[in-house]
Amino acid sequence: MFELKERDGLARICELKTRHGRVTTPALLPVVNPNQLTISPSEMKDSLGVEILITNSYIIWNDPKLRNRVEGSDLHSLLGFDGPIMTDSGTFQSHMYGDVEVEHQEIVRFQRDIGSDIGTILDIFSEPHFTEDEARAAVEETLRRAKDSVGQKGEMLLAGPVQGGVFPNLRQMCAQELSKMDFDVHPIGGVVPLLQDYRFSDIVNIVMASKKSLDPSRPVHLFGAGHPMIFPLAVLMGCDMFDSASYAKYAREERIMYPNGTKFLNDLHDLACSCPACSRTSVDELKAMDKVERTKILAEHNLRISLQELKKVKNAIHEGALWELVEMRARAHPAMLEALKTLSRHVEFMERAEPTSRRGAFFYCGPESYDRPAVARYRDRFFSRYRRPNTKVLVGFEDADKPYSRHYANEIRAISKKVDASFIVVSFFGPAPIELDEMYPIAQSVIPRNLDPDVVRRVRNVMERHAHSHGFPLAVMWEGEDTLSFLEDVAPGKEPVDVDLLRCRAVLDMQFGKGAADVLDGKVVEFVKSRKTGKIRNIIVDGLHAFSMRAHDGRFTLKMEGARMLMDALPPPRMRVVIEDEPAEFAAKGANVFAKFVRDCDDEIRPGDDVIIVNTKGVLAAAGRALMNREEMLAFNRGIAVRVKQTAD
Ligand code: GUN
Ligand code: ZN
Repeated sequence: MFELKERDGLARICELKTRHGRVTTPALLPVVNPNQLTISPSEMKDSLGVEILITNSYIIWNDPKLRNRVEGSDLHSLLGFDGPIMTDSGTFQSHMYGDVEVEHQEIVRFQRDIGSDIGTILDIFSEPHFTEDEARAAVEETLRRAKDSVGQKGEMLLAGPVQGGVFPNLRQMCAQELSKMDFDVHPIGGVVPLLQDYRFSDIVNIVMASKKSLDPSRPVHLFGAGHPMIFPLAVLMGCDMFDSASYAKYAREERIMYPNGTKFLNDLHDLACSCPACSRTSVDELKAMDKVERTKILAEHNLRISLQELKKVKNAIHEGALWELVEMRARAHPAMLEALKTLSRHVEFMERAEPTSRRGAFFYCGPESYDRPAVARYRDRFFSRYRRPNTKVLVGFEDADKPYSRHYANEIRAISKKVDASFIVVSFFGPAPIELDEMYPIAQSVIPRNLDPDVVRRVRNVMERHAHSHGFPLAVMWEGEDTLSFLEDVAPGKEPVDVDLLRCRAVLDMQFGKGAADVLDGKVVEFVKSRKTGKIRNIIVDGLHAFSMRAHDGRFTLKMEGARMLMDALPPPRMRVVIEDEPAEFAAKGANVFAKFVRDCDDEIRPGDDVIIVNTKGVLAAAGRALMNREEMLAFNRGIAVRVKQTAD
């Protein structure tokens, strides 16, 4: 039903299967009011490329004429659209106008019977001003109706909205209970007033609370979010679907949407857009135009600019650059910036979905970049996984051009000749041992030299933590020749260090966990290097090709021999994905591992990790690249969990 295709953290490109075709998410569902077709559904499909619509079943149910027409045919003929159609239930009407007439099970049956592809239960709109008791009551009634409604869905997919006002505990409870029921989509409801008031920070807390407890294999819809400004952030948090009535509503109010905000037609000198709608006209022509015609053109622009922003978001997911897009968009409005800062409180949860490396480099966009999960991940792993070389002295260098080992090659050579030393760089990400200077994200990052004071302070705090814990008898910052003469006296050196071996050990521990480097103990380790770049390509351990080092992120690809060695060094469940016995036989022949065959997996595995695939008896089947973390592998019933890269043959 819902299959993961590509991802960047919680952001994902998925395919949602409906009875009227497949939809690629993140998707925007334009709201179609059957009484007021500003842009016709067929035009949306044919000229704007809209894949899926949403309409309100309660409006149809409540209008004898429309109801008569739909009962004589079906929803798709009524709207003149043969793609997937989602329906809402009347909850929003109750939020706007007070109670609705319809009984909750009846409106679900009605949606099913008119042929809706995705129906919605009649949930209770939990208003932001609700007290905790009021919000709890709304959640409890929503859950009661949810239980009542799932049995009525038939062939229709059914959406169970998460309610709970502004209370994260209630959102989590609601999400957890709904996940136990047979729903296909989980909208996050009750957020429209927050969106209207630019309370994006509250939305962040609500969405994150919901995501933490929802079944990760189900699509999440952010109800009523139709402004392109919110798309990058919402997708970054794992929202898959949006609906918009705003494109038409704003158009009626002569408001024009842009990814950075909204402008009144009257305030514009130029439309500053070259979409087909804007290309046909000008500000002056629009102002002079008849209202119906003007509304249609503005609605078309608003919808096009929204669809385009989602396309940009999808590209960013593909490139691994969504954080950069979100941080740039956060500059559009202080409330967005505040929301981004609020998101940093959820970094621990986001880290679980954070890829181990990305296609593109880490671009610093401002002090908030320091709060990305990639930074927290590096820091945590450095302190929990990295084992220092056994030398008398640690020499620290200031940040410099990358790779550090090349920049400081002369200094390192001079010091190593005379002093028993290890080397570390004070990097943006934290202490960067010279032997980790090619591993993501250290080398694959673009960071300005003059950092914001806030970041400088935080980097310094991390270095202080390191100063207290590194365990070297002596640590000094490099200050030129004087440092060398001082070190010669206090820590005269032994034989020169084998940087390749150090690099290999450090990457093994950082990538596979503390202890992984023990696979090299007492072994003959040889390196095959690139003739062009001099970088390590293959690691041969006792004559066996165990690991290859990837040029683009300095991480290892696990070979079968390496997987065998790691299995000896790391006790189960570490780095293992346990799958059913029969699929394990197929994996051993090179077939990818589908999520539905995964029995269990190491909780430390992250998307992008090179993992060991074993059967239920713990026997090695293959090595591959994980596309999901543990909770995702266990939740998804469709799609690939591990791409198999190496087999015995
Ligand atoms: N449309 C906007 N918000 C909501 C909501 O909370 N529930 C439903 N069913 N529809 C909505
Ligand atoms: Zn335009």
